[in-house]
Amino acid sequence: MKTFTMPGTRIVAPNVVLGLMRIADKTDDEVRELVRTARDAGIDFFDHADVYGNELHGCERRFAEALRLTASQRDAITLQTKAGIVREGPYFDFSYDHLIDSVEGSLRALRTDRIDILLLHRPDALVEPEEVARAFDDLESSGKVRHFGVSNHTPGQIDLLRRSVRQPIVANQLQLSVTHQPIIAQGVAANMLNEQQSATLDGGGILDYCRLNDITVQAWSPFQAGFFNGTFLGSPDYPELNAVIDRLAARYQVPAIAIATGWITRHPARMQVVLGTTSPDRVSGAAQGSDLPLTRADWYELFRAAGHRVP
Ligand SMILES: NC(=O)c1ccc[n+]([C@@H]2O[C@H](COP(=O)([O-])OP(=O)(O)OC[C@H]3O[C@@H](n4cnc5c(N)ncnc54)[C@H](OP(=O)(O)O)[C@@H]3O)[C@@H](O)[C@H]2O)c1
Repeated sequence: MKTFTMPGTRIVAPNVVLGLMRIADKTDDEVRELVRTARDAGIDFFDHADVYGNELHGCERRFAEALRLTASQRDAITLQTKAGIVREGPYFDFSYDHLIDSVEGSLRALRTDRIDILLLHRPDALVEPEEVARAFDDLESSGKVRHFGVSNHTPGQIDLLRRSVRQPIVANQLQLSVTHQPIIAQGVAANMLNEQQSATLDGGGILDYCRLNDITVQAWSPFQAGFFNGTFLGSPDYPELNAVIDRLAARYQVPAIAIATGWITRHPARMQVVLGTTSPDRVSGAAQGSDLPLTRADWYELFRAAGHRVP
């Protein structure tokens, strides 16, 4: 497993991590096997959110109940969670009280005394950066949160936060897969008339912004074709892409899921792939994509086979 020191932290992190959004209905044994497989593959970084699960903090609780980590086992992993979504509504809430309450709930559910990284889950249109800054300061000084980041944020939204927030924004979690990649594909076809790929969907250059500002991009839904509409892997809707994936999988002697993972890890931005599968086999298969030496030609072939244009 390829690792790197996350800028703005001392965390030595793997470039493939495990998301726990889908474990609400898994048994203790299933959660333990999933996490054990991840750990065996070198994945010691786990992504949560207060809203994952059937009830608030449900998946965080499921994780902690199943694992019952000792203090030293807890110290050996990185726990990341998110706050800022209110499900009843729904709406977004970056107010001081909401952020503090959410972290308190996550600490209880995860049975830990600290969150390693807290992300603001989705931009709150009513954000008051000074209030976020006050929440971050209190969470940091009380030792409850070590590092802070965002998710689904544009460069402008991050700059607005950074004017008030003292702590470095260490991560921006963004949707990214070979089939859903406006943050990459837009830059390949910039400034072309009548070309949908040329349209800026991300507030303008979010990937370059994150690279320039040492913000680690974390790719969520790495195997989903679009927005939670099923995987492209093996899907009859993507015959050309799957043909290329299968050919490269045979050449590199890895499962297809490793090629889809490697397409993201091959990018020099040092992104992290956030796996959402609950299948141990798929976790170990995806981990094989951590350090896959895809060539430029391979990478662009996958890019084109997913329907993107190289002008
Ligand atoms: N920041 C955000 O806004 C945001 C949004 C969404 C997700 N996330 C994070 O990102 C993580 C990943 O998201 P995701 O679960 O949507 O991503 P994903 O890994 O692309 O999708 C996993 C889902 O696809 C299914 N699947 C079916 N066939 C598959 C195959 N051949 N290979 C892999 N998966 C297959 C999996 O089922 P099985 O379980 O049966 O394998 C699982 O339900 C989440 O756990 C969460 O931590 C963040």
